Amino acid sequence: MSISPFPTPASLPHSGTEELAEPILEGLPFTSRWLLAPMEGVTAPSFRGHVLRRHHATDLGGAFTEFVRVVRGPVAKSEMRKHLGTERYPTPVGLQLMGSDLEGVRVSVGNAIDLGVPVVDLNFGCPAKGALRGCAGAAALKSPAGMEETVRIAVAGAEGRAPVTAKIRAGFDHANDVEVLARAAEAGGAAMLTIHCRTRREGYCDEVDWTRIERAVNAVSIPVAGNGSAWEHSDLERMRRETGCAFVMVGRGALKSPWIFTDREVSRQEAASFLVEYHDTLKSLGARPKGAVGRVKQLLNYWTAGGLIQSEEERGQWMRETDFEAFEARLRAEAGSTVP
Ligand SMILES: Cc1cc2nc3c(=O)[nH]c(=O)nc-3n(C[C@H](O)[C@H](O)[C@H](O)COP(=O)(O)O)c2cc1C
Repeated sequence: MSISPFPTPASLPHSGTEELAEPILEGLPFTSRWLLAPMEGVTAPSFRGHVLRRHHATDLGGAFTEFVRVVRGPVAKSEMRKHLGTERYPTPVGLQLMGSDLEGVRVSVGNAIDLGVPVVDLNFGCPAKGALRGCAGAAALKSPAGMEETVRIAVAGAEGRAPVTAKIRAGFDHANDVEVLARAAEAGGAAMLTIHCRTRREGYCDEVDWTRIERAVNAVSIPVAGNGSAWEHSDLERMRRETGCAFVMVGRGALKSPWIFTDREVSRQEAASFLVEYHDTLKSLGARPKGAVGRVKQLLNYWTAGGLIQSEEERGQWMRETDFEAFEARLRAEAGSTVP
């Protein structure tokens, strides 16, 4: 029996039949401490599905769609279905919304839950100019009161049917107000706060300060997911230990190795097979050869799994390959497979 107080909707958008695994904390659907971060252009159903299929719900406890923008009115269910995909896994997949149109957000949250989404996340961290122009994403970090109101409206839209969570950066230009921002999300009714420990100004800088996560943990009583530069499996436990966060959310570390949620070593062949399958899925979904190879390269930019890339020079060779057939043939050779 589930300990989540939220009912599981009878009709789910997914075509599979898998039931969600048991949550580990009351009020949230997550089935382990480790979460896959939303990443636009990466964590679409294709990549997310390949990661989820390789993990037990006990290794990876939850994932999210990339942000779905709420602009001029609520997001249609058909649009949400595109982001959610058709497969269903024992690991919960939440839908992330981003927007400043409060009524649009309220109705969109309801639409998402009607579709069976077990958790809705709100994006208050996107640094893209388009988001900032629309007063959405990281722009909300300049107004804790406004952020609190957005969370409150989203929670009202959920009508107690599923939790609403908030994902913030540590601040807009500085991290002095981490506590204020964390408390605003909590006051609005967020069931969990994810804190990406960089500020908007810091972008994706290499150096991170996890004490900002610890400060958020100490400022609120809701569970906090720490996020920022967890690159190895050992970093997940270390972040929990050093900051006291309840969950760790992994972004680019999962592009480096989609197996980061376990401490299992994978073989070179297994790592290459992941990329071949990902490539083939993209093509089966209509991607052109250039597009499919481009998405694989997006992973290879970070990839270390299976020792497939031994040096930066070798990484450069993969990245510079402009002949798509040659790229695909090399990948298949590594995986020990042939062209289907
Ligand atoms: C390519 C890319 C796309 C991203 N898209 C989103 C997004 O749609 N929503 C969001 O909240 N964060 C997004 N992020 C931020 C990540 O979720 C995460 O907070 C950030 O990468 C820091 O974690 P990391 O250091 O583990 O990568 C994105 C990051 C990357 C690299």
